Amino acid sequence: MEVGLVGLLRVSWIAGTLPILIASLPCSGLTSFHRALSGFAKRGKTLQSSSEKFTVPQKFFSHFYVVAMVWTTFLLVTTWIYAYRMAPIVSKPFHYYTITSHLTGGSHIFSWHKTYSSPMEYRYGIWQSVFLLLLMEIHVSRRLYETIQVFDYSPSARMHIFGYLTGLFFYIAAPLSLCCNCAPEVYKFMLNGVAQFIVEGKNYVSDIEFDWWVFVISLLKLRWHQWIGAAIFLWGWIHQLRCHAILGSLRDHKEQTSEYVIPHGDWFQIVSSPHYLAEIVIYAGLVVASRGADLTIWLLFGFVVANLVFAAAETQRWYHQKFKKYPRNRNAIIPFFY
Ligand SMILES: NC(=O)c1ccc[n+]([C@@H]2O[C@H](COP(=O)([O-])OP(=O)(O)OC[C@H]3O[C@@H](n4cnc5c(N)ncnc54)[C@H](OP(=O)(O)O)[C@@H]3O)[C@@H](O)[C@H]2O)c1
Repeated sequence: MEVGLVGLLRVSWIAGTLPILIASLPCSGLTSFHRALSGFAKRGKTLQSSSEKFTVPQKFFSHFYVVAMVWTTFLLVTTWIYAYRMAPIVSKPFHYYTITSHLTGGSHIFSWHKTYSSPMEYRYGIWQSVFLLLLMEIHVSRRLYETIQVFDYSPSARMHIFGYLTGLFFYIAAPLSLCCNCAPEVYKFMLNGVAQFIVEGKNYVSDIEFDWWVFVISLLKLRWHQWIGAAIFLWGWIHQLRCHAILGSLRDHKEQTSEYVIPHGDWFQIVSSPHYLAEIVIYAGLVVASRGADLTIWLLFGFVVANLVFAAAETQRWYHQKFKKYPRNRNAIIPFFY
């Protein structure tokens, strides 16, 4: 099952990225393929079509983050409990660990994961997943707040149903990719816990001890690359927050709800889609925090880059067509390069 989940996620990311890469090739034979794919990816200002066929309102973006919040919170809480009970990296009295392991039927935990060289490495791997999910939770909570409170989606703004379904899939697969190496074991552990609870009821719950300090201190014991990754994540996160605030303020007057203007400030001074650039920085932070050693997270990152560079190219074209005096020195998404 474990290889199945990891394999499935990897295939999905490759299947999502390849068509974008193919459509981006500068080959005249691929023009209609490129047009079809960009039709699926367009939304809001870049999807100005009279036909509403196969589209949904762009404010449905909030659905992505509701799904992401619920799913990431579930994965975070269950993985954190599993890490605390079954993979401690700070010393706890030996008998306590053995008892809890026995109670949950978890002696199999010592047959640690094949990809880790030692039991300690395996435990660090699980705590690393908790850390990555925590960063994801911080990201999707802000995005949910912004889609509801900051962005003033125009009533006429739409997105293609294909883009909508892709977004929903993304926010299920992305958090899962951050913990896919231990997800099957966490799942078995939780099932075991539920079964024990059904059999033993209140006695089972009263046997469980929680030391909140151990919960937190274990995260602080993580290694330097996790903290460098978190710093990169935070850098992208803060710039995305600022750029979204700028976008959200462009239509401060209610009568302007379908008007578009040239944004200025923060990373908008150097690129046209700084919020996409910031998203790439955020996911680069996750790659670094995972030590760059997990192919599934690299493939997730590849999809995010391909998808956002593709969308940024459409946005750049749209700005150049819409505004005659658009700043010529502004690149699409990668400063001084593209
Ligand atoms: N991880 C991923 O793969 C992924 C994929 C997609 C999006 N995202 C993230 O989701 C966030 C939002 O993406 P998005 O594509 O919805 O952004 P967007 O198209 O730029 O739209 C954001 C909001 O700003 C408004 N807006 C944009 N440009 C404007 C202008 N020139 N004048 C006035 N209003 C303007 C839009 O209005 P309209 O609705 O009228 O256009 C919309 O309300 C981004 O940070 C992005 O990184 C991530």
